Amino acid sequence: MTSPSPLHQSLKESTRGAHDQIERNAVLKRLLADDLTKNEYTAILARYLGFFHPLEENLSSQPELRRNVPDFEARTKTRKLEHDLAALGLSPEQIARLPRTERVPNAATFAKAIGVLYVCEGSNLGGRLIAKHLSKFDFFRDETSSFFEIDPQVVGSRWKAFLDLLSALPQDSGFIGEASSAAGLTFSTLDSWMAGALTSK
Ligand code: HEM
Repeated sequence: MTSPSPLHQSLKESTRGAHDQIERNAVLKRLLADDLTKNEYTAILARYLGFFHPLEENLSSQPELRRNVPDFEARTKTRKLEHDLAALGLSPEQIARLPRTERVPNAATFAKAIGVLYVCEGSNLGGRLIAKHLSKFDFFRDETSSFFEIDPQVVGSRWKAFLDLLSALPQDSGFIGEASSAAGLTFSTLDSWMAGALTSK
């Protein structure tokens, strides 16, 4: 195994506390509960859409990110969430009207965009564990699970490709600091946004 790049090491270490905190998020914890309902699952995916949609729009307009991550589209979550929500019974109009966050982490520079993308990509790792738990529910079927149910081999190879990309990027303290603070902000804004999933309409 190759040793982690300084950039990856900093992203991981500087967000460890934020990851621990998001694992304690009361809404996300419901995903691992034995009595999760279809309505809760739908509300949580709807809330995720309200975060990832504006976030991925921001990321997709960062030209250096698009150049360095040619498979960016395949990595995005918005379309998967829309697909799953439609299969759970929401109409296109209902999906379009779901609230989107106005507090989107800034991804205007390449370093910031990399920090944001790190959080998005890393979430697939925990997603495998969540999908394993969800697979016992009858509402978690092929059509309703594309956001979480990512083939473990695909997750593994995408993550490895992302870590290889991190190794090839600038490793100076300016770039690392900017990426790491954007990653921290992405965790904290998602944490507060998700907290509203089961209370707002
Ligand atoms: C709520 C339940 C969650 C659980 C149980 C969970 C669990 C995990 C686990 C087990 C790993 C390590 C996987 C491995 O090394 O193979 C991991 C990594 C990671 N997770 Fe989560 N996670 C959760 C939520 C999230 C969320 C919501 C995000 C961000 C949107 C996130 C971002 C990350 C990141 C960035 C990593 C990679 C850390 C690294 O650099 O190695 N996780 N998670």
